[in-house]
Amino acid sequence: MLSGCLSVLFLIAAFSLVAHSSPLIPRRIPHETRRAAPFGWQPVRRAEPSTILPLRIGLAQSNIADLEFYLSDVSHPDSPNYGKHWNAAQVTDKFRPAAEAVETVRAWLSESGIHAQRTRLSASGGWLLTNVTIEEAEALLGTEYYVFQNAADSKEHVACDSAYHLPEHVSKHVELITPTLHFDIMKSRPMIKRATRPGFGSGPQIGAKIDKVFNDLAHCDEQITLDCLRTLYNFDYTFVNTKKNSFAIVEYTPQTHNPSDLDVFFGNFSKSQVGERPTLISIDGGVLDSSGSLGESSLDLQYALGLVGKNQEVLLYQVGDEVVGGSFNNMLDALDASFCTFEGGDDPTQDGIYPDTALGGFDEPENCGTVKAADIISTSYGYDEADLTPFYMIRQCNEYGKLGLMGVTIMYASGDDGVAGFGGVCLEPNGTQALGASIFNPTFPGGCPYVTSVGATQIAHGNPVTAPEIAAADFASGGGWSNIFAIPDYQKSVVQSYLREHPPSYPSDIWNSTGKSRAFPDIAGNGVNYTVAIDGEFVPIGGTSASCPMTASILSAINDARLVRGKSPIGFINPTIYSEPFRGLFNDITTGSNPGCGTDGFSVERGWDPVTGLGTINFPKLLDAWLALP
Ligand SMILES: *[C@@H]1O[C@H](CO)[C@@H](O)[C@H](O)[C@H]1NC(C)=O
Ligand SMILES: *[C@@H]1O[C@H](CO)[C@@H](O)[C@H](O)[C@H]1NC(C)=O
Ligand SMILES: *[C@@H]1O[C@H](CO)[C@@H](O)[C@H](O)[C@H]1NC(C)=O
Ligand SMILES: *[C@@H]1O[C@H](CO)[C@@H](O)[C@H](O)[C@H]1NC(C)=O
Ligand SMILES: *[C@@H]1O[C@H](CO)[C@@H](O)[C@H](O)[C@H]1NC(C)=O
Repeated sequence: MLSGCLSVLFLIAAFSLVAHSSPLIPRRIPHETRRAAPFGWQPVRRAEPSTILPLRIGLAQSNIADLEFYLSDVSHPDSPNYGKHWNAAQVTDKFRPAAEAVETVRAWLSESGIHAQRTRLSASGGWLLTNVTIEEAEALLGTEYYVFQNAADSKEHVACDSAYHLPEHVSKHVELITPTLHFDIMKSRPMIKRATRPGFGSGPQIGAKIDKVFNDLAHCDEQITLDCLRTLYNFDYTFVNTKKNSFAIVEYTPQTHNPSDLDVFFGNFSKSQVGERPTLISIDGGVLDSSGSLGESSLDLQYALGLVGKNQEVLLYQVGDEVVGGSFNNMLDALDASFCTFEGGDDPTQDGIYPDTALGGFDEPENCGTVKAADIISTSYGYDEADLTPFYMIRQCNEYGKLGLMGVTIMYASGDDGVAGFGGVCLEPNGTQALGASIFNPTFPGGCPYVTSVGATQIAHGNPVTAPEIAAADFASGGGWSNIFAIPDYQKSVVQSYLREHPPSYPSDIWNSTGKSRAFPDIAGNGVNYTVAIDGEFVPIGGTSASCPMTASILSAINDARLVRGKSPIGFINPTIYSEPFRGLFNDITTGSNPGCGTDGFSVERGWDPVTGLGTINFPKLLDAWLALP
């Protein structure tokens, strides 16, 4: 969570600050650091020392450092516990903050002059609460508080500068403290609406109206259809309709679809499905917003429903009302009641906060543990890592890991801008994002080790559907190395081979060349020129937005086949797919690259690469291999 030389500077500053206030305070380390205030915020003056702050100390979960180990235990094909997923109560018990955490933090507060009668433990057990003056908070946390002002609307917000510090023995029991570095202030509503975050910047790649729609295998290089995809991935499977298998597509308001477009699509490509609809699961007031944008949702749902066919229900998790919208955390809150509160709950700068009392808002408590997680959940939205704080990302990534423990497969599109962030934005040396900057800008949650990240491929222009695909070239498939997450065991050997055999020639200050960070994507699938019905006409749409739900649909068939045989769903697939027998069962992509930030990006190579991962799905081979597992 801490980064390099900046931290050392803060540490020195902390010592000098602390030295004359109390000689008894033990050695402190930076607990959270921030390189720059969020866009638009400037410090204008020191905060008044006597101002009262409602200090909230989020306690660390126990055993969270062993999450990768637990996950591997139920997800690695060589483990005797493969497929023995946990239930929600087991997950909650394993990670609940320990009594030791509460005692350690209370003792430290008391030694610092904040006596036990001034502190209170929150009902969830996840927070210690106390009221302190700014002066007390500055001494306690080795920091300085400032009043920040927003350039756009002159709103003021009190936050501390750059970093805050805790004694080492306390730091390990604390997740975060607020108010500190976080800008826990609601952005003005119109801003959120306009930005439509989370999202792939401008959304999926949408082309002009298609004049002549082909429905044959001869034009798959220009127009992808259901049959093209079935042929590419040898996908011929009839779902058994067990009702046990579940598959969800997530959409964030204002992205929406027009139900009658499903019939235009089915009428042309899958007649027996005319009239079929996804099952709407509304999260935090999510509705089919008739004034919303039609691209992402139409693409995801037409292809997911079309590929799984009429025997398999597709759930639509529609997240967020039409006023504030929703975020990944809002979705996770709905799936796991413990996530709503632990480690501080949601961040108002990023997540929709409910009830939303604005006109037309969802004026009810947020959905918290009200939705049962589907076996596979596919999401074609994302952020750049640089948009979010490490704390926010790590907390959320751990939650994906917990869902994996419970047997859920979480799939995310890897992004459409190669080694750049959404919209082609890259990083400056000081960590800010800008067009024309030169440092690679990894996406989130592509770099979270507990999701399966999906890149994109295409049929080269003029090639038949039977020819090997290449990495997407109409746009650049997102991929590279995270700046936040360490490399998980499951991918170490293939990633290290790539770095050894095809070392990228870029200077180490423009990409994370350490070899110690999580690399993505994991797999890929066709993502160029899907024929999608929008407002009664067909347009080509592409992006990892297409490849992710398409790949998820095919994997859902593997779940169906396993469930019919009384086996568990495939759950978190990464330890399986990177394992020796499985990794050779993908269609390896060997041509292409993922340009961005003024470079050619990384090269596609034999075996795993940071553009197309292990390759695309070869359905019959993977089905057999997964059916052979317990
Ligand atoms: C902090 O002060 C507020 C407002 O006076 C009060 O409602 C709250 O209970 C106090 N919190 C603690 C932990 O004492
Ligand atoms: C996808 O469609 C666009 C616009 O219709 C076209 O320019 C492009 O060549 C197509 N891509 C391929 C790979 O055929
Ligand atoms: C096929 O698509 C066209 C739009 O290109 C639409 O007008 C037509 O109604 C569709 N066919 C059927 C049978 O739905
Ligand atoms: C970061 O660096 C860029 C490019 O040098 C500069 O334009 C920007 O103002 C800097 N931002 C901050 C917050 O220092
Ligand atoms: C590279 O990634 C690691 C996490 O694996 C991180 O600790 C390190 O700070 C990153 N380097 C840069 C330059 O961001």
